[in-house]
Amino acid sequence: MAKPRILSGMRPTGPLHLGHLTGALDNWVPLQDTHECFYSIVDWHALTTDYADPSAIRANTLEVACDWLAAGLDPKKSTLFVQSHVKQHAELHLLLSMVIPVPWLERVPSFKEQQQNLKEKDLSTYGFLGYPLLQSADIIVYKADAVPVGEDQAPHVELTREVVRRFNNFYGPVFPEPKTLLTATPRIPGTDGRKMSKSYGNAIYLKDAPESVRAALKPMVTDPARKRRTDPGTPEICPVFDLHKAFSSAETQAWAAHGCRTAGIGCLDCKGRLTEHLLQRLEQIHARRPEFASRPDTVWDILREGDKRAREVAETTMREVRAAMKLPE
Ligand code: TRP
Ligand code: SF4
Repeated sequence: MAKPRILSGMRPTGPLHLGHLTGALDNWVPLQDTHECFYSIVDWHALTTDYADPSAIRANTLEVACDWLAAGLDPKKSTLFVQSHVKQHAELHLLLSMVIPVPWLERVPSFKEQQQNLKEKDLSTYGFLGYPLLQSADIIVYKADAVPVGEDQAPHVELTREVVRRFNNFYGPVFPEPKTLLTATPRIPGTDGRKMSKSYGNAIYLKDAPESVRAALKPMVTDPARKRRTDPGTPEICPVFDLHKAFSSAETQAWAAHGCRTAGIGCLDCKGRLTEHLLQRLEQIHARRPEFASRPDTVWDILREGDKRAREVAETTMREVRAAMKLPE
């Protein structure tokens, strides 16, 4: 029996950080052995918020590709491609835009949230409103069975199912309804304790050298109750402990929790052990990345191969779509 097909996408916003690792790549990599995987660098999605200054998109696409390959996404197993190189996404997005009522888009939670969060950008655009529909097109142009995403993206997959039902009602059963493969997303705080994010300047990147990782973790925010070495703390409220939960062994987590509560260890000891676990986790990525980063042409070639494969599948779907919508051949 054919493996179920999945599609997921990532915006080329820059080099990837620890949040991308635990929130996406750690799930995407093993899925390659059980599913037929399409992973897309969604550069058109980056434009929905960064249209005023697209100057970084091309370089960021390469950064993401290098991180993907270093983290273990394998072009022999999966189709790794660039969204804008597969024009069928745009065609399907346009056709779906005929079908979707605007209020469906206005009530997607990320729409108002992002407008609130990114006040400095004018997100009253047509493209920004429509981006969850572009995401729907990304998914169904491959007739994906499932979409591995975190909680924040689940409403977009739900919207996709609604769009599919409406489309199939009008034109016949062309698309399957994709399932959400909910990815557990552990809390990954940045060095200042807020959610890890490029825009906060608090991120640890996959490509950061071991010395920079050490230097970044040393001053990381901890439980403020531990002013002195002798003050006990509460690991549950400490961002360093969140990182222990994501990257350290169960043994080290127990050691940190106990040592923290009893003031048996200092925060620097605690961070030191975390650093070792984290660097161990990043070892393979660090070993593999330079090989790709130093040969951008090879990386672009890998993506171009993926583009080709993606186009074939997407075009097959679009032939069906055009026929179902009675467009001239
Ligand atoms: N919207 C997603 C994000 O911001 C990225 C994305 C685009 C995506 N197309 C997709 C995710 C299709 C899953 C499937 O993270
Ligand atoms: Fe945080 Fe560890 Fe310090 Fe406790 S000992 S406050 S868990 S860094």
